[in-house]
Amino acid sequence: MQEKLEQIKQAALSTLESVRDEAALEQWRVAHLGRSSALMGVFDQLGKLAKEERPAIGRQANEVKQLMEARYQETAQKLQNAALMLTLESEWLDVTLPGRPVGRGRLHPNSLTMREIYRIFGEMGFQTYRSREVESDEYNFTLLNIPPHHPARDMWDTFHTTTPGVLLRTHTSPGQIYVMREYAPQPVRVILPGMCYRYEQVSVRKDAQFTQVEGLVIDRHITLADLKGTLNDFYRRMFGAKVRTRFRTSYFPFTEPSGELDLECQLCKGQGCGMCSGSGWLELLGCGMVHPTVLQNGGYDPQEFSGFAFGMGPERTTILRYYIEDIRYLWTNDLRFLEQF
Ligand code: FA5
Repeated sequence: MQEKLEQIKQAALSTLESVRDEAALEQWRVAHLGRSSALMGVFDQLGKLAKEERPAIGRQANEVKQLMEARYQETAQKLQNAALMLTLESEWLDVTLPGRPVGRGRLHPNSLTMREIYRIFGEMGFQTYRSREVESDEYNFTLLNIPPHHPARDMWDTFHTTTPGVLLRTHTSPGQIYVMREYAPQPVRVILPGMCYRYEQVSVRKDAQFTQVEGLVIDRHITLADLKGTLNDFYRRMFGAKVRTRFRTSYFPFTEPSGELDLECQLCKGQGCGMCSGSGWLELLGCGMVHPTVLQNGGYDPQEFSGFAFGMGPERTTILRYYIEDIRYLWTNDLRFLEQF
């Protein structure tokens, strides 16, 4: 029996030397230390041995088993280390290499203009208020004195949704009604910035989506002179004291009288270019004295209160501030263009 144990040990240890991977090691363990291995056979036969032989053979069998288990553990450890080295060599990382530069984001040119607008109106005592982009027909038109089927609705080519009476706002003017209904009968002085949408012919001056900043001032003695003074002051703060503006009469159903403000084209300095259609002027906003019907819809008594409102297009201002030749560059997300700001 002693010889048999010696043979079992030798055979197991010599095959262990040729084991090269974890699958082969597992096969070795099953063959030499598993339930049906020759070594376990010896343990099974211990009971059948003569009483005096048993302790010595039992001890030897245990020593062989412990030795084989120890070698098994050593080999397993070696194989694990070799696998780790292989991974480290194939996936090495040079932590001393300089990292890839992370691109720094920057503000969109129109956001720069918007911030400048908020800053200037903030200094002039205006609060900023926001209203929704998906709007009802009632707020976008009816409460602004444009009843259903009124021809003035054609002034704004509208994106309608599949829900009747729900549309993408064509201007920021519906925000006037929300502000009035929240604050009446207190005086208000607010701007309302936001995105607007129009289903219209896109050109160098017009896009289907653009921002507007609405302005609304209501108090007891507001006049057209306040409107002109506020807007002139605003554009001087934005473009410098020498900038030239001009007011033209116009028509909006929600203001009476109504006007439009043009700024001298900064691209050609009033000489005439493609942007200003050769006129030397670019229309920047619509404005006027709030119509009594609209004041009433907002909860103000037109006998007691008056107000002015305007709606400016910041994209046109952005174009003039940064000498951009085409409004479409602003919303096409071309990084080559945006990285210049
Ligand atoms: C209006 O939208 C009126 N709600 C403005 C207003 C408010 C009048 C309050 C009176 C009182 P208008 O459609 O003209 O008006 O647009 C106002 C400004 O928005 C324009 O002067 C222009 O600067 C800008 N704008 C209009 N359409 C576009 C467009 N498609 N792309 C870029 N800017 C535009």
